[in-house]
Amino acid sequence: MVEIVPSILSADFAHLADEIAKVEKAGARMLHFDVMDGHFVPNLTVGPPVLESIRKVTKLKIDCHFMIEDPDHFAPVFIQAGADMISIHQEVCKNLDRTVRMIQSEGAKAGVVINPATPVHLLDDILEVADYILVMSVNPGFGAQHFIPNALTKVRRLVARRKDLGLQLPIEIDGGISLENLGDVVRAGCDWIVAGSSIFHSADPATTVMEMQHIARSADSVHV
Ligand code: DX5
Ligand code: ZN
Repeated sequence: MVEIVPSILSADFAHLADEIAKVEKAGARMLHFDVMDGHFVPNLTVGPPVLESIRKVTKLKIDCHFMIEDPDHFAPVFIQAGADMISIHQEVCKNLDRTVRMIQSEGAKAGVVINPATPVHLLDDILEVADYILVMSVNPGFGAQHFIPNALTKVRRLVARRKDLGLQLPIEIDGGISLENLGDVVRAGCDWIVAGSSIFHSADPATTVMEMQHIARSADSVHV
């Protein structure tokens, strides 16, 4: 089943628990938590204390997207704080296989992320080790950017590769997803669809999540 994954980057940080409750009630099962360090990307977000507080108010699976240069140091800290899943950028990992296995051994699912300019073939030798792949459809660092259509070509390549290898590996996509392009994203083969501004900047985030789930289900049922 396709999952709509709300990203709290665009939520109202002064009312985070309320914002999360809205999307949880609407039926979301995962929550996207963006971690930025001001080095890998030109922006800063939140750290372990915020995650720890969120962990106490929600049962949603917390999907941490690390946009940081030192995932090896921080992964255990975020897992301790309550992360269920951590994705790390291929572009920063000198020993990608080691970092993926370390995250798994610490008790979380490990994802590998690629930026818009990073080709899918660089993931070839990690597909059988990683728990999921995240394809960026914007350059990471900010919410509310425009979707880069080439991401769909990359998703289709990954879907084909996944099939060749006989893997179940979920494919996640992140950046610029709206009610308008969601159907195309599902038909390309994405399983987990991150959406920040289109949910939290809408008049009613809960209704938007339900609308997105409906679009995703309809598109998925015609997906071959
Ligand atoms: C951007 C973050 C995204 C962000 C997406 O670097 O990784 O998760 O929240 O926001 P939207 O959906 O507004 O593009
Ligand atoms: Zn993200």
